[in-house]
Amino acid sequence: AGIPKYVTELRIPAPMPPLPGSAECPFDEYVIGVRQFRQQVLPPGLPATTVWGYGAPHQPETFGYPAHTVEARVDRPVRVTWVNELVDADGDFLPHLFAVDPTIDWADPGGGMLGQHGSGRYAGPVPIITHLHGGHTTDDSDGYPEAWYLPDARNIPDGFARHGSAYPAFARSFGERHELGWPAGAAVFQYPNDQRAATLWYHDHTMGLTRLNVYAGPAGFYLLRGGPTDLPPGVLPGPAPQLGDPTDTRPYEIPLLIQDRSFTPDGELSYPDPAYGAEHGDPHSPGGDASSGGGHLFFGETMVVNGRTWPVLPVEPRRYRLRLLNGCNSRFLLLTIAASPTARPASAVLPFWQVGSDGGFLPAPVPRQRLLLGTAERMDVVVDFTGLAEGTVLYLVNEGPDGGYRGGEPGVDFEAADPYSTGQVLKFVVGAASGPDLSVPPEQLRLPPITPLGPATLTRRLSLNIRQADPSGPAARRVQLLGTVGPDGRGLPHRFHSPVTETPRLGATEVWEFHNFTPDAHAMHMHQVQFQVIGRGRDGLRPPDDAERGFKDTVVVLPGHVTRVKARFDTAGRYTWHCHILEHEDDEMMLPFHVGPLPA
Ligand code: C2O
Ligand code: CU
Repeated sequence: AGIPKYVTELRIPAPMPPLPGSAECPFDEYVIGVRQFRQQVLPPGLPATTVWGYGAPHQPETFGYPAHTVEARVDRPVRVTWVNELVDADGDFLPHLFAVDPTIDWADPGGGMLGQHGSGRYAGPVPIITHLHGGHTTDDSDGYPEAWYLPDARNIPDGFARHGSAYPAFARSFGERHELGWPAGAAVFQYPNDQRAATLWYHDHTMGLTRLNVYAGPAGFYLLRGGPTDLPPGVLPGPAPQLGDPTDTRPYEIPLLIQDRSFTPDGELSYPDPAYGAEHGDPHSPGGDASSGGGHLFFGETMVVNGRTWPVLPVEPRRYRLRLLNGCNSRFLLLTIAASPTARPASAVLPFWQVGSDGGFLPAPVPRQRLLLGTAERMDVVVDFTGLAEGTVLYLVNEGPDGGYRGGEPGVDFEAADPYSTGQVLKFVVGAASGPDLSVPPEQLRLPPITPLGPATLTRRLSLNIRQADPSGPAARRVQLLGTVGPDGRGLPHRFHSPVTETPRLGATEVWEFHNFTPDAHAMHMHQVQFQVIGRGRDGLRPPDDAERGFKDTVVVLPGHVTRVKARFDTAGRYTWHCHILEHEDDEMMLPFHVGPLPA
């Protein structure tokens, strides 16, 4: 409501600094912590906000929400020591910013002990585990939800587990590694970067806490560049010295992390938790339920881009590369570049030339008037402001719903987001040109080739289901569950701790069919792999459109539809597949898969 828009400039995250001397190593070495700090998310004059964020402890000024960007090179490994630094100045653990829901399957380090907090709220310490979203990694570096660990705090009560117990083999290796020299409160993960150049991102993935941990801030871009699946520098508008002018380092490539957030009157993040917070009178977790269909969802009242509400981006009349990331908990975005911030339906003034998706470049650029981004999806686009007069003002507007997305047209099938708040994202103000634009016009771009996956040897029929959480409990409390499809064609829900049913053979190429039996769209994500979308629609046979012909790791699956993806499983071990609506992921819409023989 009272938050003025377009008063702060967009913040562009700087590169995350590797450890000194890392250039001489065969890999890039980082130490990245998660800390709590205050940051001006709201415009100046309004209170600062307590957030969590990643940063390099050897350069404390790098801590931020969102995090600095990890700049990685294809085929050059990155090693990160991820440190849980959610402690106060005395070294005592910090409590969570939001009410933990102890009724769902969550990390629960105290085994049911909620701590001393009078309200019965979990008092901390906070477990974290970081996942590189879209990364091709071995399972011990993947950030399995049960591979969480606590900060190395002075005051951890007796009886609290210091780290999680994933499936036994993994727990053993996680524990052993700590005994063998992993620092306390940390995990050392390695990313081989043996995949296509792509826009990846890293974020927390703790069992039953991901929605709350990510909402507090820990997320950042991980840009993988170079090699034959990238374009040479200078072809696209870039962050690096422009072709022909090595002194021109202004950013024409801009990552945009788009999120929705709500604030208390004192400027703190607010997360309504109908399942738990309301009953306990927690001001940061008030009651109220924005759910649709069933299951708990979150829809914030403001739009935050790169950690600031409704920022403004000054642009020159030239081409820009925008790396869009929907980092919202539940909200699907429907983005257009329009002249009016509030006119609906929005009419596009400039197209987005989409050149890439989650897993790297598309086979060819696709001009698009409007982009649908499900949660965690990325789109790499070129926007051409060339020829626009100085002083021209344009807006990135959002016509996705302030509620669950079900497909269809805004204004026809559902109400678009409030045009005066969540229907607006970012303002572009065109200034003067500072030099020639030597990037290739998008319609002339030739993108790196794509090698399609070979034939599949197995098809898995998988289901998205909605059920009453507890058949003897309140009917309104519903849970979304993944599972298989039974012989009668109906969904058979599984639970995270049910025996693992998806066990691809090492090296197998498989088709996974997502049969969505729920009334809502979901954003289905698979770890380890980048998949190809091969079919959509009620029968799953409609070929993907041009913008879905690249590799992806997250796909919007519409209600009543079958969405078919194909993937090759080339790394043995335990991973997860899940809905990336974080409220769904935390509330059971996540299952493990295991590549290779199941351990005994
Ligand atoms: Cu972006 Cu399994 O997560
Ligand atoms: Cu979902």
